[in-house]
Amino acid sequence: MKKIVVLISGNGSNLQAIIDAQTSGRISGKLCGVIANKSDAFGLQRAKKAKIPAFVFERKNFSSNLDMDLAIAEQIEALEADLIVLAGYMKILSNEFVERFSGKILNIHPSLLPKYAGLNTYQRAMEAGDSEHGMTIHFVNQILDGGAVILQAKVPIFPDDEVEDVVERVQEQEHRCYPLVIEWFCQNRLVEREGKAYLDSVCLPPEGYSSD
Ligand code: GAR
Repeated sequence: MKKIVVLISGNGSNLQAIIDAQTSGRISGKLCGVIANKSDAFGLQRAKKAKIPAFVFERKNFSSNLDMDLAIAEQIEALEADLIVLAGYMKILSNEFVERFSGKILNIHPSLLPKYAGLNTYQRAMEAGDSEHGMTIHFVNQILDGGAVILQAKVPIFPDDEVEDVVERVQEQEHRCYPLVIEWFCQNRLVEREGKAYLDSVCLPPEGYSSD
């Protein structure tokens, strides 16, 4: 059984979707830890309620980003995690960390990458007058939001939408898609090789899996 560690910075609604999927058997792996870089992250309460060991690493307690990442890496290795799931972890991981866990880190990002890497994706999409937005799940490499895409989901943006409307639509897709992709990994169906994502030994196209 694969062991999963989830990294968060805030609300943890994706963490909750993963916890719920594990409880209902849609994820066969086991959540072995939650790591937050903010002591007030609401996701820590979700972890506590689900009786998952939780750990806080705050930047102010380390002399550099690298030192902090090394401490997190040691914790992850002590937990013997097979998969690291970034779920709203809003701190850029050092190249050393990414290298150490190459092929084992997933991220979820609220845009249709390669569009809108980085922050404020909703505002940028709406200001550009886009008629659609979405989410991307990808392997993490050393380029910010630049790793191999596994799955994308699109949602419409309507002319009368407020940002919150689009956030709600995108997060609904996130909560549906992340457990699915995590289970692919847990079943050894999903792997990264030489910077590309493979599902059932088939190399996924740049936009990720598509069911048609
Ligand atoms: C999610 O919507 C995720 O896509 C985004 O943060 C949110 C966290 O929500 N991640 C990023 O922006 C990463 N660049 P949650 O804490 O409720 O899961």
